[in-house]
Amino acid sequence: MATTRHFLTDLDLSPAEQREVLDLALEMKAEKYGFTPYAGPQTVAVFFDKTSTRTRVSFHAGIAELGGSPLIINSGESQLGHKESIPDSAKVLERMVSTIVWRTYAQSGLEEMAANSSVPVINALSDDYHPCQLLADLLTVREHKGELAGLTMSYLGDAANNMANSYLLAGVNAGMHVRIAGPEGYLPAESIVVAAQERAALTGGSVTITTDAAAALADADVIATDTWVSMGQEEEKEARLKLFTDYAVTSAALARAKDDAIVLHCLPAYRGYEIEAAVIDGPQSVVFDEAENRVHAQKAIMAWLMAASGLAASVREAK
Ligand code: CP
Ligand code: NVA
Repeated sequence: MATTRHFLTDLDLSPAEQREVLDLALEMKAEKYGFTPYAGPQTVAVFFDKTSTRTRVSFHAGIAELGGSPLIINSGESQLGHKESIPDSAKVLERMVSTIVWRTYAQSGLEEMAANSSVPVINALSDDYHPCQLLADLLTVREHKGELAGLTMSYLGDAANNMANSYLLAGVNAGMHVRIAGPEGYLPAESIVVAAQERAALTGGSVTITTDAAAALADADVIATDTWVSMGQEEEKEARLKLFTDYAVTSAALARAKDDAIVLHCLPAYRGYEIEAAVIDGPQSVVFDEAENRVHAQKAIMAWLMAASGLAASVREAK
C-alpha cells in the first residue's frame, strides 16, 4: 500500500515533484473539467481557523471542478482543537473525507493531523508557511518568465512571516536564487535558512538573507512582498507599520530590479504600506493572475497527492 502523502511545507515536494505538480496545474488550467480524481463525489473538508477570501473560494471551486464535494468549516463551527483533540479529529475525518485542508496557527497542529490521518492533509496557511500560495506564485512566474531555475526572486518586508519562509523554500526548490530582505530581528529562522541552503545545494539555487533592500532588489526578475501585519499579529499593528518602511515596494524600489521584472503579492494588499498603489496597479504587477492560479495550483496538488497516496487511480480518475 502506498504511503499517504501530505503537503505541510514547501519542501514536502522534491524538486522533481514540484515541477510535476506545476506541469499538472498548467494542464488543468488548459482543460478545466478534464480531471476528476474526487468523482463520486468524494468530500474534501476545508477548515479555517483564520479568515480567508482566496483560499476559501479557490479550494471550493477547485474541489468541485475535480468532481468532489467541498465542505467548508469555519472557526468555531466544529469541535476540532478546542473540544476534541487533533488525533481524534483526524481518525474520524479519515473515515469520511478524501482530503483534509486546514488553515490554522501552529504548524505543529498540521503535523499532528497528518501523523494521524490516512488521507492527505494540506496546509492552507499556518503561522510558518503558505505552501499552496507558493505553488500559485511559481505557476505565475512560469507563465510570465518560462523556466524558473536561474531566476532571481526577491522578497521584501516582514521576512520572518509565513510568506517569506515559503518564498525561500519553494523558490530554492525550483532552483531559483532567492533573496529575502527585512530588518534585523525579522529575518527567517536559522533552521529554515539551513533547510533552504541544503535544498539549494541540490537544485543550483541560492539563498541570500539581508537587511539591505537595495542589494536584494538589484537586477531581480521577480519582486514579492506581503502584509506587514499577519493574521494573529493585529495587536502589534501600530509598531509593525513603522518597522518595515525601508522595505516597501515603491516605484523607486522596482526601478532597481530588471526592466521586465514582475511583481507578486499574495493579497490582501495594503496600498501605501508594503506596496505602492502605482506598483500593484501598474504594468509589472501580475497579482490577479497569481490569485487565479490558486485554483489551478491547488487542484494540481490535491490530484497529485491523491494519486501519489494510492487513493485515486490517477490524477485524472477516481479509484
Ligand atoms: N492569499 C491568501 O491566502 O488570501 P486569503 O487570506 O484571502 O485566503
Ligand atoms: N502573511 C499573511 C498572509 C495572508 C494570505 C498572513 O498570514 O496573514
